[in-house]
Amino acid sequence: MSKDKSKDTESVKNGWDEHAETYDRWYQAFEGACENYVDWELLKKYLPKNKDAKILDAAGGTGRITLPLAKMGYSVTLCDISPAMLNVAKEKMKREGMLDKVEISECDVQKLDFPDESFDFVLCWDGMFEAAKELIRVIKKKGKVSIFLMNKCGAAISQFRENPDSALTLLKSESAYIHHDEEKHKALSPEEAKEYFEKEGVKVFEIYAVCGMLDFLSIPEEVLKSIEWDEKFFKQTTEILLRLSKEPSVKGLSRHLVLYGEKI
Ligand SMILES: C[S@@+](CC[C@H](N)C(=O)[O-])C[C@H]1O[C@@H](n2cnc3c(N)ncnc32)[C@H](O)[C@@H]1O
Repeated sequence: MSKDKSKDTESVKNGWDEHAETYDRWYQAFEGACENYVDWELLKKYLPKNKDAKILDAAGGTGRITLPLAKMGYSVTLCDISPAMLNVAKEKMKREGMLDKVEISECDVQKLDFPDESFDFVLCWDGMFEAAKELIRVIKKKGKVSIFLMNKCGAAISQFRENPDSALTLLKSESAYIHHDEEKHKALSPEEAKEYFEKEGVKVFEIYAVCGMLDFLSIPEEVLKSIEWDEKFFKQTTEILLRLSKEPSVKGLSRHLVLYGEKI
């Protein structure tokens, strides 16, 4: 690893270490709860039928996905680069009596410590295109993948107000990168994502638009941040988000794309 690369990795790790204690709070307010609901509704359809399946939750942080998967009976490996995020996860697993169902590993998703074809299902919900090859390596043949990617048009739209030049560069470039805090990730359009994964031997089932779609619904800030809400409004909001996540004409607009596919 070059010096620069290890410095980047160190800053990413430190950044997430600082967020660890507050990360889960975002999912307790309306905005996060809606996004969590949509993430799960989409995921449910692709989960292995067989509860003996081995699942990797890569860059899984505080175990938002790992904990419910372990409770459903799957054998889950949670890996992340941030020891503090993993500590929060460990405490949650302990509290819920799930610690012995989950293997926790501190590692970089771009250099996974697992042999080829170790998992039936691999998730990486961090928007990290750079990890794609390594994630595909550890999936068994016929195993499934769910990966979050940065959405090129969505990113350009949200960057425009602060930096019109960089938003336009992003849209015009074939190799577009998004800088956020200490992280830098490649952004793709749904078509570019499909083309890339199919070239790497993954049959793409579907690509959905997730995260950031609430911005288009003009919901008042106090509702988004509130930790108590009207159930009927929650249902209406999540239903529209789910419908929009599948709607081809709006797929370019979200912050992330989530791609589901199968290794062939
Ligand atoms: C936005 S959080 C997502 C956590 C979890 N996947 C979820 O959806 O709640 C991003 C996570 O990616 C982790 N991460 C960032 N870069 C990583 C890398 N190179 N290797 C492993 N984990 C990484 C961070 O430490 C953080 O826990």
